[in-house]
Amino acid sequence: MNIKNICCIGAGYVGGPTMAVVAQKCPHIKVTIVDINASRIAAWNNQDLSKLPVFEPGLDKIVGEARGRNLFFSTDIDQAIDEADMIFMSVNTPTKTYGKGKGMAADLKYIELCARQIARVSKSDKIVVEKSTLPVRTASAIKNILEHTGNGVKFQILSNPEFLAEGTAVQDLLNPDRVLIGGDTTDAGQKAIQALVDVYANWVPKERILTTNVWSSELSKLTANAFLAQRVSSINALSQLCEKSGADVHEVSKAIGMDSRIGSKFLKASVGFGGSCFQKDILNLVYIAKTYGLNEVADYWEQVILMNEHQKNRFSDNIVTTLYNTVSGKKITFLGWAFKKDTNDTRESPAIQVADNLLSERAHISVYDPKVVEERIYADLDYLNTRSSEENRALLQVSNDPYTASKASHAIAVLTEWDEFKTYDWQKIYDQMQKPAFVFDGRGILDTKALEKIGFVCYKIGSGS
Ligand code: NAD
Ligand code: UGA
Repeated sequence: MNIKNICCIGAGYVGGPTMAVVAQKCPHIKVTIVDINASRIAAWNNQDLSKLPVFEPGLDKIVGEARGRNLFFSTDIDQAIDEADMIFMSVNTPTKTYGKGKGMAADLKYIELCARQIARVSKSDKIVVEKSTLPVRTASAIKNILEHTGNGVKFQILSNPEFLAEGTAVQDLLNPDRVLIGGDTTDAGQKAIQALVDVYANWVPKERILTTNVWSSELSKLTANAFLAQRVSSINALSQLCEKSGADVHEVSKAIGMDSRIGSKFLKASVGFGGSCFQKDILNLVYIAKTYGLNEVADYWEQVILMNEHQKNRFSDNIVTTLYNTVSGKKITFLGWAFKKDTNDTRESPAIQVADNLLSERAHISVYDPKVVEERIYADLDYLNTRSSEENRALLQVSNDPYTASKASHAIAVLTEWDEFKTYDWQKIYDQMQKPAFVFDGRGILDTKALEKIGFVCYKIGSGS
């Protein structure tokens, strides 16, 4: 089957960049990305490419090349479904906040709504692709919904999880380690798999396109995120032991990472991992294990989350203790709010938890992040409901330059590893701070020896100073 028309439901961090790359690499395929969020679609259609709703290095160029040629953004979901041979579901699958599985299971209501809309609108056979991250066996629920339309339309369901990381999305999509496609073992299932393989084969070498059964594909996505997050929690657990024992976690990471069986990636100690997916996907894995009665399996993976919570809390505790056991009325400058560098995404960013803890101690916080806008920062804090939004606005200010943000502050805390933080005029920052001037480097990116020479009192995660 030759795919000519693709629809992607969900124009978010995954749907937008993924489909922009498909459109750029496959000019013979019309790609329409649809969303119920009209302002998001309007932003994707913005003539000013610096105003796209997702910031990713290189994305503006790709959208600029394909948009209007074979890439379209629209709110007319029914029409896009009707025209498509292949439909990607790339909607959000957050942790449930209500009912059974609250706080753990994935909320599948958006996926189910998509499936019902596809079932209602479709008049011709379609391949439906799970792009969202989903619990293992979701495809069978989707199949059930799609097969009860009574209008004779045939559907094939594929699982094609996305492994891109934010900040490097374009590079990850152009040059993926692998593309994973799971489908039915029937003839029709294999044909559907081949149709999707043919789309990716326009730019991904064949040996990197892996095909499996649906359940392996669904579970591999949760497993990959669990393994990655587990490495971060493992090194973070050791970072505390390093601080106590005089070892340096950066040296330990390097030493173990040179063992080819361990590998050097994902061993950077930090103030904790954030992002929309690690915590959500591990909680989901824990929930699935529990529903099968596998309590030891569930407990094992839950520990990755508990360690991460501990890492965030111990960072803010350390700031309070170091500043003579009180931060009440003291100004603390946050460098960074995003959950990692090169993205404007703040979902589950460790900065949010650290700020909330310090605000509860009545600190005054001043934030500078190169990409995150003020409203986002306040929305993140308000969402926690720890205090009123008026109080959040009174206690926390957002600056658009690091020198103003750090003026007269007692301490600077590095929450995101933005490269520009390393290049600042730290003498200038020091001169305008209260003394003693403290730096708490939660990302281990600053040259603390040089800062100490200037006069700063430094704490670096995993090495003490
Ligand atoms: P997102 O919240 O940025 O985007 C989801 C979009 O879907 C939103 O714009 C929302 O309005 C839209 N939507 C929801 N229901 C809809 C409906 N019924 N019809 C039309 N549009 C609808 O989410 P995201 O970060 O792009 O993540 C999407 C999925 O991809 C999740 O399952 C996530 O776990 C997975 N994932 C995310 C990443 C990442 O880096 N963010 C990476 C890999 C996988
Ligand atoms: C992660 C995975 O890397 C992607 O493969 C996956 O597709 C995606 O989740 C998803 O399913 O959403 P992402 O969350 O965008 O991607 O970013 P990562 O680079 O994985 O970083 C996650 C968090 O871990 C960040 O807060 C980062 O700062 C932190 N981290 C990462 C560390 O603290 N140390 C490390 O060594 C690596």
